[in-house]
Amino acid sequence: MTSYVGIFKGRDWLETQSWSQEDLKTLIEAAKDLKKKYKAKVSTADILRDRTLFMIFFNRSLRTRNSFEGGMTQLGGHAHFLSPQDIYVPALPEDEEAYKTERIADVARCLNEMGDAIAIRLYGDAAKWQYGRGHRTLREFAKWAEIPVINMEDDVYHPCQAMADIQAIDEHVGKFQGKKYVMSWAFSEGLKPLAVPQSCVLSATKMGMDVVFARPKGFELDDKIIEHCKQNADRFGGSFEETDNMEEAFEGAHVVYPKSWTARAALPGPWGGPPEPDKKLALEYASQNKSWICDQAKMDLTSNAFYMHCLPADRGMEVTDEVIDGPRSIVFDEAGNRMHAQKAIMSAIM
Ligand code: CP
Repeated sequence: MTSYVGIFKGRDWLETQSWSQEDLKTLIEAAKDLKKKYKAKVSTADILRDRTLFMIFFNRSLRTRNSFEGGMTQLGGHAHFLSPQDIYVPALPEDEEAYKTERIADVARCLNEMGDAIAIRLYGDAAKWQYGRGHRTLREFAKWAEIPVINMEDDVYHPCQAMADIQAIDEHVGKFQGKKYVMSWAFSEGLKPLAVPQSCVLSATKMGMDVVFARPKGFELDDKIIEHCKQNADRFGGSFEETDNMEEAFEGAHVVYPKSWTARAALPGPWGGPPEPDKKLALEYASQNKSWICDQAKMDLTSNAFYMHCLPADRGMEVTDEVIDGPRSIVFDEAGNRMHAQKAIMSAIM
């Protein structure tokens, strides 16, 4: 089965919401096929032989970088790592500095002449914690590059993570319809973007799951994303509910995904917020909710749920060792799926 090769040729991979449910299911099947071949040591090196992926990382990474590099090797191509320290920092016109930055329009059109796709990771400090700035930057690349642009996580979306996750649910749970999926906030001290929870609730509702979004007051997501989730639930036969009670959310769940993100009140965004990120306020909000940890007592409320996390996990804050190392944790298979899901995406669009 290689009917997925080139099926979406030229499309950007910036988020999942503009892709149909059928498109996403095609990509899941492709990812499963590529995973099966990888495990059986069947070569897939003809798929992207001699192709180049440029990867610009404004933020650190373990899984994303290695899954793209390993994935491109397996597909017969090359993934080229670029950090902003080693190039002229790609910048929007309003951020330009002589001989330090380079206008994105120019960077994108140069790389366009040399390779086959551009992948970018940009959030947090690199996007000044101004919600949407990272995603706007990726859109600017996509505007100027004729080759596809791939989102390796920005400040709004992490669509590669979402694809790996729905592949893992397909493989472990077996179906989406009628299955309860809980995306829950969990305690941590660090500043973290909203990209993972937002992409996860969007893709789970698009697959028709019964999605419960649990968060303490102050940890709401972008209102626009919530609106899309409700529309997905109506259209694809699932449901979408919000609650501020973690235990209640876990009751009867088939999949739980507890992870931390920063309180909106501490970040500049369409909801208002301070002009600069307020780290002290973020910690105050988080510290009031230390009981939001995924432990065995909460797992016992579920319907023998699978435990998921994008990783890295903050052990002892977001989750106990007992749960993440326990029999219902699928986090390492989920991490491995990053490579297969991204191989599927690259095979389809490059
Ligand atoms: N989940 C994820 O994107 O991991 P990295 O930050 O290690 O790439």
